[in-house]
Amino acid sequence: MCGIVGVTADPDQVPNVMPMLVQGLKRLEYRGYDSAGFAFIECGSYNLKVFKNRGKIDEVVNQYMVSNYCAVAGIAHTRWATHGEPNQVNAHPHLDCDSEIAVVHNGIIKNFAELREWLVEKGHQFRSDTDTEVVAHLLEHFNREENDFFTAFKKTLQMIEGAYALAIIYRGEPSRIYFARNVSPLLIGLGIGFNMLSSDIPSMLAYTRKFIVLNDGEYGYIEPYKVYIERDGELVEWRRRVTTITWSLEDAEKGGYPHYMLKEIMEQPRVLYETYTGLVSSNEVEKAAELLLGANKIFITGAGTSYHASLVFMYYSSLFAKEPVIPFIASEYTTYSRLADENTALIVVSQSGETIDSLQALRAFKNRGAKIIAISNVIGSSIPRESDRTIYTRAGPEIGVAATKTFLTQVLALTFLALRLGVDKGIITKSEYRELIERLKKAGEAASISIEKSSRIIERLVMKLKESRNMYILGRELGVPLAYEGALKVKEVSYIHAEAYPAGESKHGPIALVEPGFPVVFLGTPPLENLKEKLQGNVMEMKARGASTIIIGVKGYEDIRGADIVINTGEWSELLAPYAITPPLQLLAYRLAVILGRDPDKPRNLAKTVTVE
Ligand code: AGP
Repeated sequence: MCGIVGVTADPDQVPNVMPMLVQGLKRLEYRGYDSAGFAFIECGSYNLKVFKNRGKIDEVVNQYMVSNYCAVAGIAHTRWATHGEPNQVNAHPHLDCDSEIAVVHNGIIKNFAELREWLVEKGHQFRSDTDTEVVAHLLEHFNREENDFFTAFKKTLQMIEGAYALAIIYRGEPSRIYFARNVSPLLIGLGIGFNMLSSDIPSMLAYTRKFIVLNDGEYGYIEPYKVYIERDGELVEWRRRVTTITWSLEDAEKGGYPHYMLKEIMEQPRVLYETYTGLVSSNEVEKAAELLLGANKIFITGAGTSYHASLVFMYYSSLFAKEPVIPFIASEYTTYSRLADENTALIVVSQSGETIDSLQALRAFKNRGAKIIAISNVIGSSIPRESDRTIYTRAGPEIGVAATKTFLTQVLALTFLALRLGVDKGIITKSEYRELIERLKKAGEAASISIEKSSRIIERLVMKLKESRNMYILGRELGVPLAYEGALKVKEVSYIHAEAYPAGESKHGPIALVEPGFPVVFLGTPPLENLKEKLQGNVMEMKARGASTIIIGVKGYEDIRGADIVINTGEWSELLAPYAITPPLQLLAYRLAVILGRDPDKPRNLAKTVTVE
């Protein structure tokens, strides 16, 4: 997830837009901060200037003394790398061959590889490894052909596939900023004598409170006194869509949500789509699976939520690849690293890529010759840097201490890996593989429908559970790692002691704790033919002791006898169940935290990343 901002102004109204660009971009830093850049039309000369580099916004601004420049129009970008290392050449804006066109982009262009090949054959010289740069060269190509930039822009949009929010300036039309939106957010800010574009409201709120939220498939341009929007070649009437925002600036940085945790729970459909798009358009999964194929022992590790994602991988590797995988909690690595040798593969799951326990596990295995695969959300972080292969999630920066969107994007990346391993081993056929990968496209939809179906019941459930000091969250098979993850969420943000374990274990001790009113949440996961009857037994044994029984399940568990509350998240297969079952657990933890007066974004005693032992 990156942040983009653009401003164009009448010099008589706004003599210099540079302060708006710099301040606006700083308001977007939470969306990404591994590199930043500016492209602007300089006052007087009307030259196109570009300053960009690896580093935070302030570092780049100070390095080039950006604030000393005067601009009549400009675009700026703060990057959360998805394609290409965070460095100077990969920083946005990206330029065409003649440096007449500058592009900033948030999202992922799925078909950038073939477009790049096509453009190189036509003589275009690329400077970066990013997907974005193809847009600048496509614009250059079609502008030469059509000799009309807007037509060239429309032809460019017809060529690119994927998620994008684009802002473009062209030296030949200095007061205009072109834009396009598909999946990645983009809004227009309406001013007097100026207009703005941005990924998010915070970067514009200091200058205007009037906004147009662009819809997928819309594109056009802004000028100081004009907004022009089209969709499929038809003019879009936008005046009735202008909204006035009364948020405070702090509210705006959370997208209007009261906490980052809720914003990040709600972002899951989009970031799952962006992660899916990134995975299908890169060869990260294939390269990682090669290392697994060559190993005779496969281990997987992580801490906290990342360990729970590791357990999901163990389940899917067994299901789709008939491959035994040994999961362990990263801090316990010694017991396992002594089993490692040059025929071992270790998968290290870490959204930050900096967790010290996971880094030490990685080094212990590497010292014994093991091959290392990282699953991470931060390009260029320590764990990917020390790994042989990396599969990146594209969840964007996660500000809330509790992992939410990064968990499900890890599960998605690991499911891709398990399926790839299965087809490489011949356990599933190529057509089965293609069909399963295609079905995974619905991961975001499953999360979205689950959130919609569960939000109201969760609010009711919270009133029931808020006095509880303890609860069980139980699952079977695929439900077990999801139960562990749900219990961790409840513990770390609401401070209620939630414990998860396999539902079949109750009789072996834990049920001794159950007394009237003791809350027990059961996760109803597929396949129903194997699990429903067993779960029915678990519910009855808890009900017999007076427990308060709650089911969060896929369709088919509604008629479980003895359930006080049932949340039906929709009809989902074993492949998509995690994206349906997890969000209600995240919302339960969040709502409990809020009603108990906790700060869900900054829980006591915790840090977002544990970089010290
Ligand atoms: C999860 O909600 C916690 N914030 C914590 O357990 C976290 O998952 C763990 O510290 C691992 O972090 P990582 O994914 O960045 O390695």
